[in-house]
Amino acid sequence: MTSSVLDQVLEEIKNSVGRDRVSIDADDLITYGRDWTKAYAPKPSAIVFPRCTQEVSQVLKICSAQGVAVVPSGGRTGLAGGAMATNGEIVLSLTRMNHMADVDSIAQTITVEAGAITEAVHQKTAAQGLTWPVDFASKGSSHIGGNIATNAGGVRVIRYGLTRNWVLGLKVVLMSGEILDLNGSLEKNNTGFDLRQAFIGTEGTLGVITEATLKLTRLPAESTVAFFGLKDLDRVFDLFLRARKSPFLVTAFECLSRGCLEAVLEVQGLRDPLPSVSEQYVLLEIEKPQSADQLELLDQWLLDCLDSGITESATLAQSPKEVQEIWALREGVAESLGHRGRVHKHDISLPLSKLQAFLKDWGRALGTQYQGMEPYIFGHIGDGNLHVNVLQPKGMNSPEFERIAEGMDAEMFATLKKYQGSVSAEHGIGLLKKNLLEFSKTPVEMQLMRSLKNVFDPKNLLNPGKIFD
Ligand code: MLT
Ligand code: ZN
Repeated sequence: MTSSVLDQVLEEIKNSVGRDRVSIDADDLITYGRDWTKAYAPKPSAIVFPRCTQEVSQVLKICSAQGVAVVPSGGRTGLAGGAMATNGEIVLSLTRMNHMADVDSIAQTITVEAGAITEAVHQKTAAQGLTWPVDFASKGSSHIGGNIATNAGGVRVIRYGLTRNWVLGLKVVLMSGEILDLNGSLEKNNTGFDLRQAFIGTEGTLGVITEATLKLTRLPAESTVAFFGLKDLDRVFDLFLRARKSPFLVTAFECLSRGCLEAVLEVQGLRDPLPSVSEQYVLLEIEKPQSADQLELLDQWLLDCLDSGITESATLAQSPKEVQEIWALREGVAESLGHRGRVHKHDISLPLSKLQAFLKDWGRALGTQYQGMEPYIFGHIGDGNLHVNVLQPKGMNSPEFERIAEGMDAEMFATLKKYQGSVSAEHGIGLLKKNLLEFSKTPVEMQLMRSLKNVFDPKNLLNPGKIFD
C-alpha cells in the first residue's frame, strides 16, 4: 500500500467514525501490532479503535473499497501469531468494545461485546451464581472475541469442553462491511447451515466478531486441588485412569515435568509443596466433596494412590490460598520457561488412547538423535493436549538451535501423524504453524478451507496470510 492510499484511507476512517479512533503513535503500533508470539516483529500502518459494531462495519467497508488489509486484534494473548500485523496492515483493535449486558439468569446467558475481558465476564456472572466456564492463565487479558475466534481451550476443557460449546449467538462483520446477526440467544435452531460455526476457531480470517451471547452454567461448588509427584509418564496415565473412575468430579487434570517445576520454583520464587523430588507432577482438581463421609473417602482415595505405588508423594490443598499456590505452579510454567531463554514451542494433541505410544516412539528418537535437547513437557494431559517446549541450550548459537529444532519437529510431526494427532491443540495456526498444517489436514480439506475463505473474503484482505497463504 502506498503512503497516499494509507493517508486517504485513514482520513476516510476519521471522517466516518471519528478522529480519536485512529492512532499512528509509535508505541501503539508496537503494542497493538503484536500478540504474545515472540517470533515476529510488528509492522502495522495504523491502529483503529472502533466503539461499536456499526463503526467496525464502516471501517471494513472503507478498507475493502481501497484494498487495504486488516488484522483484527483482541487481548493479544495468542501464541500462534494470529493477531500479528507484520506487513503494513491496519489493526482493528476491539479493546474499546467491552460492554457487558446484564446476566439473564433465567436463560443463563450474557451478551457481551468482543473486547470484554474473560475474567470480567467471570466476575460479573459469578455474582449471579453462574459462570462462563472457559478458563486459562491469560484470563486477565484475553478478550471474549479472541477466545471465540481461536476456539480457546485452557484448563477446564476436560470438564466443560472448548469455547465453541459456550457460544449461543454471534454478531460478525464481514470484510465487505456486511453485518451478520447469527443465532441470537437460541439454544435450539435447526435451520440449515449454522454459520456461527464458520467464525469460531477461524482466527479472524472470515469475519470480525463484535458481540457474543454466551451460554452460562451454574458456578461449580468449591473445588479442591491435589498435587502429586510421580515416577514417570506411565504412572501419570495410571493416575488419570484412577481419577476418571473415582467418585469425584474431575475439573482439571494437568501435568508438568520436573524441569518445568524447577523453572517455576526458580523464576517465580515459589515453594515446592512436596517433600521429595519426582520426574513428573500432576495437578488434579475436583469439585470439593460436601459431606464428611465424602471427604473421608477422598482422604482414603489419596492414601490408596500412594499405597498402590502409582504416586510417590501427594498433598491436598487445605485452604483456598493453598489451592491458588498449587495452581500457580502449573499456570506459571510457560512464562517461567520464557524467562530462561529462547523457547521453541509446540501445542500438540493426540487421542488419549495413543498418547503413551506416541511419547514412547518419539522419546526413543529423541534419546538417540537429539541428546542435550531436553523437551519440557506440560499441559492438559487429561484432554490429550501437551505443550512441548524446547529451550535453546546454553552455549548453542541460534542458527544451530533452529536447525536442530527443525529436525526434532520433523521427527515429532511424523510420529504425530502416525498416531492421528493434531499439530495445534488449542493455540491455533496463525502465522506460526502454517507450514505444519499439512500434517493435520488433507489436500481436500485444505482446498475446502481456501474455498470458504474465498466466499467470505474474496479479496483476501481480512487477516491475510494467517492459517494459509
Ligand atoms: C498453558 O497451558 O500454559 C498455555 O497454553 C501456555 C503455553 O502453552 O505456552
Ligand atoms: Zn495450554
